[in-house]
Amino acid sequence: MIFTQLIQTNLRTKELGKNVEYYNRLESTNNEAWELTEEEKQHGTIVITDNQFNGKGRKNNSWNMVAGKGLAFSLILDKKYPNIYSGLISLGAGIAVVESLKKRGVETKLKWPNDIFVNDKKIGGILCESKIIKNKLKKIVIGVGINVNETIFEHSEDLHDSLTTMYEVSNHAHQRELIVAEFINSMERQLYYFSINPEQIINDWLNNCLHLNKIISFYENGKTIEGVFCGLDDNGFAKINLNEQVKSYSSINLI
Ligand code: BTN
Repeated sequence: MIFTQLIQTNLRTKELGKNVEYYNRLESTNNEAWELTEEEKQHGTIVITDNQFNGKGRKNNSWNMVAGKGLAFSLILDKKYPNIYSGLISLGAGIAVVESLKKRGVETKLKWPNDIFVNDKKIGGILCESKIIKNKLKKIVIGVGINVNETIFEHSEDLHDSLTTMYEVSNHAHQRELIVAEFINSMERQLYYFSINPEQIINDWLNNCLHLNKIISFYENGKTIEGVFCGLDDNGFAKINLNEQVKSYSSINLI
């Protein structure tokens, strides 16, 4: 059970998280969030479930949550933001997860575009989806999945070498609602700073990056790309050195 009241009493925000939509069971919080965006005044709404049974990952992957123990939630942003925010918000979400887990004593690193790692094992992921209409950024749904209170043995065996959980790392259970609240607090802080100092988000992300100047591989249009990750450009796109030619790659998932 997720206590929505506990999320809300730990918020220190002006606009995000005022409305929390809780479901006992849900296919995907991102899909539900997109349905909610059909209604007005959904900016800042959190969609959360204790049992997400068909979660989506990036690039058509699935995301498995252990019911009652993991975290799966989405945040709706429905405000007029400049287009450049699309990539930056996605990076900001990664920083917000790192900060919220750090508050719970779990140190994590980011792998581009937005995987959350502890000691080379994945502990969480973010699926940030943007709707762009007539070249204008309209709405964003940020979906966050974190392995929290389960042991690794509650995940399928083929993932045991590549995944970890907060419980495995810290040897005790965590109050999931506090993680959500801190994520939302951090997100609002960052959205505020975007307008003043957008470079800060790039620097913060790189400071928490697992692989600066190292070789990484990722999927792009059905192909595996391998190259040296040499930083981020002003749009928040990855700069990858492929055989001495630097190319930019976007992390934006369009809806
Ligand atoms: C990835 O690592 O590929 C991203 C995983 C994102 C999973 C979260 S769980 C909450 C939200 N709802 C979804 O269907 N997916 C995201």
